[in-house]
Amino acid sequence: MARADATTASAASAADAFSRQVRRCFGRQASHYERAARLQAAVAWRLARHTRNLPLPPGPCGDLGAGSGLLARAIERQRPDTRLLRVDNCPELLAQEAQDCLGAPQLLWDLDQGLPRQLRGAALLASGFALQWLEQPEQQLAHWCGQLRPGGWLALAVPTAASFAPWRLAAERAEVPFTGLPLPEASRLEAIASRQLELRHCQRLRFSRSNEGAWPFLRQIKAIGAQASRGPRLAPGELRRLVAHWPRAGRRQLEWEVLLLLGQKPWAR
Ligand SMILES: C[S@@+](CC[C@H](N)C(=O)[O-])C[C@H]1O[C@@H](n2cnc3c(N)ncnc32)[C@H](O)[C@@H]1O
Repeated sequence: MARADATTASAASAADAFSRQVRRCFGRQASHYERAARLQAAVAWRLARHTRNLPLPPGPCGDLGAGSGLLARAIERQRPDTRLLRVDNCPELLAQEAQDCLGAPQLLWDLDQGLPRQLRGAALLASGFALQWLEQPEQQLAHWCGQLRPGGWLALAVPTAASFAPWRLAAERAEVPFTGLPLPEASRLEAIASRQLELRHCQRLRFSRSNEGAWPFLRQIKAIGAQASRGPRLAPGELRRLVAHWPRAGRRQLEWEVLLLLGQKPWAR
């Protein structure tokens, strides 16, 4: 195999392995997801409230990376006339919703392949805490914007690169790799969306908590199945160093920055 082909093949197989790992981690924790995903639920409600009075054109609506359907249900409660197709590639998470919300439309689909044909020309594309899991979040965001019909809306919540301050600081002090998921830059996502949409709401929500130490923080990530990592796992000695260098308990630290974005595709002139 030529060297360029071999590099492409190995990048593709690393991406496949990561995608399988993400699915496995979410799948294992699926039955605990809603109990543990308090931040995701709070943000879903907030985003859903922004969609309440949006004038939607006719056309399909979807929740991308819907998981157990927190965001789709929140939007449907605010707008009982709207039904969202729940799209996710984790069958165990989709099945969680199927148990309590019979008949909710669902599609098992890998969003790294782009949007399913059912959502072409969408009237509303909503997504919470999912874009960052895709191989190319920026390209996929541009694709999502491109698939909206004129007058259609994007409602997005996504954690950004400013998140995880205590973890990054501890990794730097301990001189161990930061093994959290790389998160997209808010300013880049805003710029991408604004190329195709008129931004009607754009806000960076910052969630700081009193730092309770390394283990409660890392456990909270694992509790929802969000621990998949692109890099190798830390060796036990590295993990001990990370924990030892975690910022002092008690000080408030920025744990999450979440970009909330609402934009409308201009009406065709
Ligand atoms: C943190 S959960 C968020 C779930 C839900 N949107 C919420 O706010 O509770 C991330 C979701 O993205 C989904 N996901 C990750 N990669 C995906 C992919 N390539 N295709 C489809 N879904 C994906 C996961 O299965 C998971 O349900």
